[in-house]
Amino acid sequence: MPAPVAIRRFVARVPVARCRDFSRRLRAWFARNRRDLPWRETRDPYRVLVAELMLQQTQVSRVVGFYGPFLDRFPTLESLAASPRRDVRRAWEGLGYYARARSLHALARTVVAEGSPATLPADLDALRALPGIGPYTAGAVASFAFERRASLVDTNVERVLRRVFAPRLVPKASRTHRLLWALADALLPRTGRAAWTHNQALMELGALVCTARVKHCARCPLRAICASAEG
Ligand code: ADE
Repeated sequence: MPAPVAIRRFVARVPVARCRDFSRRLRAWFARNRRDLPWRETRDPYRVLVAELMLQQTQVSRVVGFYGPFLDRFPTLESLAASPRRDVRRAWEGLGYYARARSLHALARTVVAEGSPATLPADLDALRALPGIGPYTAGAVASFAFERRASLVDTNVERVLRRVFAPRLVPKASRTHRLLWALADALLPRTGRAAWTHNQALMELGALVCTARVKHCARCPLRAICASAEG
């Protein structure tokens, strides 16, 4: 584990101007290249949470077919909490990894038991205190539903940040993870609204351009400032 001072040093080596340039390029690219995905049309925290859990181990193209029907069947946290587990499992069928459905169901029951109306909190620490919510999901709900200025790092974001800023870091190591979370915080634009776009754009770049299998550097908006750019 890197000490806090090592994390601060790592982040301090990235000039503020480069952080701003990174986010501006990314958001400008997103404006022209974003896919219309249903969870980008909502700020409902429950709907955002369902999308993020579905997307954790399943391809976007597959999730698109399950997301709408699941929400038609369980439109609110209350309706989900009130349903038997087997119904939830049935609606999740085809997505696999049922632990996610179980975890979502348990979360709905916890939140509903805690208060009325049943709402997800906007605060990162409160989100993380809920069952089944880790740092990534907490960041995603805070940013994508509440437009909080929160960062989120999953394997796609980690790969993009590592390639652009620190290609010598060991992929997936816990040290790398901590350094890149801190860098992700430093890269966030000033407002929560801009952070929403920045975070969506980062995921989109990892999905469409800077993929695990291929780096499409020729059409990457970060090419001029990327430490791994090829060609
Ligand atoms: N994967 C995880 N979250 C995503 C999002 N909001 N958009 C596209 N892909 C994602």
